[in-house]
Amino acid sequence: MSNEQGSITLAGGDEDILGPTGRPLTEFPEPPVLTSHGPARIIAMVNQKGGVGKTTSTINLGAALAEAGRKVLLVDFDPQGALSAGLGTNPHELDLTVYNVLMDRKVDIRDAILHTEIENIDILPANIDLSAAEVQLVNEVAREQVLASALRKVEDNYDVVLIDCQPSLGLLTVNALTAAHGVIIPLICEFFALRAVALLVETIDKVQDRLNPGLQVDGVLATMYDARTLHAREVLARLVEAFGDKVFETVIKRTIKFADASVAAEPITTYAANHQGADAYRRLAKELIARGGAP
Ligand SMILES: Nc1ncnc2c1ncn2[C@@H]1O[C@H](COP(=O)(O)OP(=O)(O)OP(=O)(O)O)[C@@H](O)[C@H]1O
Ligand SMILES: [Mg+2]
Repeated sequence: MSNEQGSITLAGGDEDILGPTGRPLTEFPEPPVLTSHGPARIIAMVNQKGGVGKTTSTINLGAALAEAGRKVLLVDFDPQGALSAGLGTNPHELDLTVYNVLMDRKVDIRDAILHTEIENIDILPANIDLSAAEVQLVNEVAREQVLASALRKVEDNYDVVLIDCQPSLGLLTVNALTAAHGVIIPLICEFFALRAVALLVETIDKVQDRLNPGLQVDGVLATMYDARTLHAREVLARLVEAFGDKVFETVIKRTIKFADASVAAEPITTYAANHQGADAYRRLAKELIARGGAP
């Protein structure tokens, strides 16, 4: 075991029994084998704060679900295209992206979706073109429902669709929330990050009210957790105070391996299959399935 892995486990500490969220650690069951596929449960990965682990969690939760035999579509919904790059597509070489699917009704979403190197994972890529969509969509009819109606064409082909949102609560993110059955809120374990959540919850409430009454918060995912710091433990305690059981029991620890994996354009589950970071996302996939957040 590397130093890095060893140092973030508090040997003999309470966390061995209780887990970082202060609850007893559950042994989640192995996901049942699926004998047929679809229709997909659609999950938006949302936080208007930047750099909290949305893209990393989309790639790695997606990869863990794919490993468990789920057919997964990852939607890059950020003009930065980090998800697309993180799975090895070259953003400048794309003929069709999610932008074309949104803006041109003649473009079939199936022609924009790419297979990846990883079994069971397809991607609807994005590049900088998507930055124009926010403004252009404003004049569209049913502008909040454009992504939802595009996804309807392929939802029977997948078990799970994960939408990686950009750090904003603008019209694109509202499209993702309107298309989704559930929301996962990745949240970095730092105090400043807690402040952003109130506005996010307000936006989710509004979308539930006006556009998508079935929308659920699947969970809040604590990311970049460092058990050595009192700060991170306090933030996690505050999160549990505010969100209770909505906080996933699975907590993603801080490790440089995620950045290494993204340089290699691979999920951590293949890049470093035995690393604790890979296991954490596998555990998250099991927890999500056990909670009914994915088939
Ligand atoms: N558990 C982790 N430990 C250490 N570094 C991490 C972890 N998760 C993500 N990172 C790194 O933190 C940075 C931000 O992560 P990521 O891109 O997933 O966040 P994001 O919320 O998608 O950001 P943005 O809002 O800009 O889209 C990246 O460099 C990523 O490699
Ligand atoms: Mg991102």
